[in-house]
Amino acid sequence: MGGSPYWTVEAVRQVRYHVVSSNGLFDPGNTALLTGCPDAPMSPGDRRLVVIDQNVDTLYGHDVRAYFTAHGIDATIVPLRADEAVKQWDAVSRVVDAMNDFGIDRRREPVLAVGGGVLTDIVGFAASLYRRGTPYIRIPTTLIGLVDAGVGVKTGVNYERGKNRLGTYAPATATFLDRSFLRSLSLRHISNGLAEILKMALIRSEDLFALLESHGAAVRADRLQGTTEDLARASDAIIAESIHLMLEELQPNLWESALERCVDYGHTFSPTLEMHALPELLHGEAVVIDMALTTALATLRGDVSEAQADRIYNVIQALGLPLWNEVLEDPSLLEDALRDTVRHRDGQQRLPLPIGIGRHRFVNDVTSAELRDAARLLGDRARGYAPSAGTLVPEQVGA
Ligand SMILES: NC(=O)c1ccc[n+]([C@@H]2O[C@H](COP(=O)([O-])OP(=O)(O)OC[C@H]3O[C@@H](n4cnc5c(N)ncnc54)[C@H](O)[C@@H]3O)[C@@H](O)[C@H]2O)c1
Repeated sequence: MGGSPYWTVEAVRQVRYHVVSSNGLFDPGNTALLTGCPDAPMSPGDRRLVVIDQNVDTLYGHDVRAYFTAHGIDATIVPLRADEAVKQWDAVSRVVDAMNDFGIDRRREPVLAVGGGVLTDIVGFAASLYRRGTPYIRIPTTLIGLVDAGVGVKTGVNYERGKNRLGTYAPATATFLDRSFLRSLSLRHISNGLAEILKMALIRSEDLFALLESHGAAVRADRLQGTTEDLARASDAIIAESIHLMLEELQPNLWESALERCVDYGHTFSPTLEMHALPELLHGEAVVIDMALTTALATLRGDVSEAQADRIYNVIQALGLPLWNEVLEDPSLLEDALRDTVRHRDGQQRLPLPIGIGRHRFVNDVTSAELRDAARLLGDRARGYAPSAGTLVPEQVGA
């Protein structure tokens, strides 16, 4: 008796999504897209809205259209410009317009998103908003898409200078992985994806690191197409192991309620670096610079030996990735970045730092002075690679 009425509602939402590998998804004889996922079947007579990165449309649009025609699917194809500079609200609104014009049936007609991480993040975000959630399917066409953006549950776009500041947790019903798309990707974007794979290796798996050390440069040059048996084995193992480790980390913490996430390695300083240097640095390049900096920090703390740091820096270089960018010369930027991350991580740094290669711990006590020392150490090392340049740009290192 007495007091105001008070209710508590508690519910658990079950999540199930599928990640299906199949090379040559749009080969007419390949039925993976039609029957490969039990929760997203497609049959003759069905309609589908397909939002496709406009560059991917130029390269593969003919095959995509021919595939749907051959299988009797009435596909409406909407090409969309999708790069970091336009990863903004306007792009979401264009996808929402397309969904509205299509008159989507949210029970039966998942939207298909075909493109890199930018495209799948935009379409996923729009789908998660339209009618409070419309199913969608991802077909990533970049390496970042295959091993990272395509397999988690996050969607989003940038807002002003805030990286992915607007977004939702909205898993795709299914993601179809087809590494044959990578044949047309620039080496710079291949390297960009290898950065996220290297992240998983550095914090979780010395074996994956060893694979990158022995085969990374060759699989990069091969664009993970597996043109020899050895390269095919290495590419398959690198992609599968990286996704496996990523999903192992994501599954118990899909909604990120635990803020100590080792998959955030490389993502403490990089969001600020990436947005500050935009469009100069790609996402994976900013991530690898963050990892190079925190490797230096861990070296100063005695958690990573100099020999291990050398191996890490050599692999970064072999993968055609930068160690350094001149934005690191501004210590206040690193401090701002750390402050922003602390806000995002509920008042603590929760900074994943490597221990040797393949293991990690979380720290909360990184100081500004330590950051400056780490940046100085890394700067000396990077200048060893590129004596006269402040910036080591991957296109100069690679092909
Ligand atoms: N949602 C997540 O969990 C998550 C995870 C990691 C990264 N991301 C996001 O992913 C984005 C980066 O994705 P990205 O690296 O795929 O970049 P991207 O989507 O910008 O694609 C890179 C470039 O390659 C082109 N392209 C795409 N596929 C191609 C192909 N097969 N052949 C030739 N060109 C092709 C694109 O048009 C674009 O110009 C960032 O915005 C990042 O925030 C999201």
